[in-house]
Amino acid sequence: MTTIAIPPGMPQYDDVPRYDVAAVRADFPILDREVNGHPLVYLDSANTSHKPRQVLDVLAEHYARHNANVSRSVHTLGTEATEAYEGARAKVAAFVNAPSVDEVVFTKNSTEAINIVAYAFSNASLRADADPRLRLGPGDEIVISEMEHHSNIVPWQLLAERTGATLRWFPVTDNGRLDESGLTDLVNERTKIVSLVHMSNILGTVNATSRITARVREVEALLLLDCSQSVPHMPIDVVDLDADFIVFTGHKMCAPTGIGVLWGRTELLAAMPPVFGGGSMIETVTMGGSTYAAPPARFEAGTPPIAEAVALGAAVDYLTGIGMRSIQWHEKQLTAYALDALGGVPGLRIFGPEVPVGRGGTISFALGDVHPHDVGQVLDSLGVQVRVGHHCARPVCTRFGVPATTRASFYLYTTTEEIDALVAGLEQVRKVFA
Ligand code: ALA
Repeated sequence: MTTIAIPPGMPQYDDVPRYDVAAVRADFPILDREVNGHPLVYLDSANTSHKPRQVLDVLAEHYARHNANVSRSVHTLGTEATEAYEGARAKVAAFVNAPSVDEVVFTKNSTEAINIVAYAFSNASLRADADPRLRLGPGDEIVISEMEHHSNIVPWQLLAERTGATLRWFPVTDNGRLDESGLTDLVNERTKIVSLVHMSNILGTVNATSRITARVREVEALLLLDCSQSVPHMPIDVVDLDADFIVFTGHKMCAPTGIGVLWGRTELLAAMPPVFGGGSMIETVTMGGSTYAAPPARFEAGTPPIAEAVALGAAVDYLTGIGMRSIQWHEKQLTAYALDALGGVPGLRIFGPEVPVGRGGTISFALGDVHPHDVGQVLDSLGVQVRVGHHCARPVCTRFGVPATTRASFYLYTTTEEIDALVAGLEQVRKVFA
């Protein structure tokens, strides 16, 4: 692993403990395998991360020793499963510095978490006695940005359709930053909710949200941050962020698929009507009507992803053990190295910030006019796994005038040698398509 000097003027992370990347890699069984006769070079962690043995073992152990349904049974296994599930909630709450464990709602993924908020708004909009902050109608506005993942666009388009509210968005600058120049017009007295990505899954941009948050507070709107790409890679503190909701997903942070998180302020979750009805989310049920449990149970109808949540708790332990600032520093190094190395590839165009400041280790690019699917196929033949396509952020591709991009993304186990393998692979692509 080559060490890179972080440019002057950037945080130097001098106080951050370094970790042994080779030792971390040894925790991930999949990193031993070969692909198409080459050592695996996995540069698709923004899509999904790999899972360390410490998480896989907890998942297997849960099913092997503690399997039972939660919050329903007084028997020993049911109690153990419930304790493990609620214990995971406490770990997740501490990981993002949530003031209360009850502010953590387990969901299937970030997409479901955003949809829960959007449907709570629309359910509230049907009830005259609902909290006015959650009621939308014609004349009200919802604000997103042009750099959102589809999961932070479509739920709000659907909400606007259902309520008659108007959807507006921040544009993106030529260098892939959020264009805040129209902030006061865009976020105004008509705005009910602003829902923004914290780190873009396609451009790598990390949005500094303090000006937007201040404006949201001024107009008494609400703020949701999609932290799917930031929670796995940097310390996140919901108190510091001062958002009303954040969402993130387990599978991008060393946990299994099928488990995500909606964090919301206690009083807002308490004001939100339920979205899914069923078991475990009720207080009482009669044939004439029902009353609902307090959050988080109100939003967790049915049997939840129990083992997945427990394994998410193990992933939180694993990441905390290494240290989120240390992981952030490691990825900052990789990003600086990769931007420099990719900058030397003839004909390569980077979409998004070209400096390792205010961006994370997710880099989208075009190689001349070679179609990204061809780039991806040649790289795959060499064992290098990247994502190609619109990355579920099609408006960004449209903004930059391309149908698709090639994207390399890094994580705590990525090495500079893997970035070298990417660059060597791109030389092959150039030879094949020259
Ligand atoms: N959101 C995931 C990605 O960016 C799926 O690849």
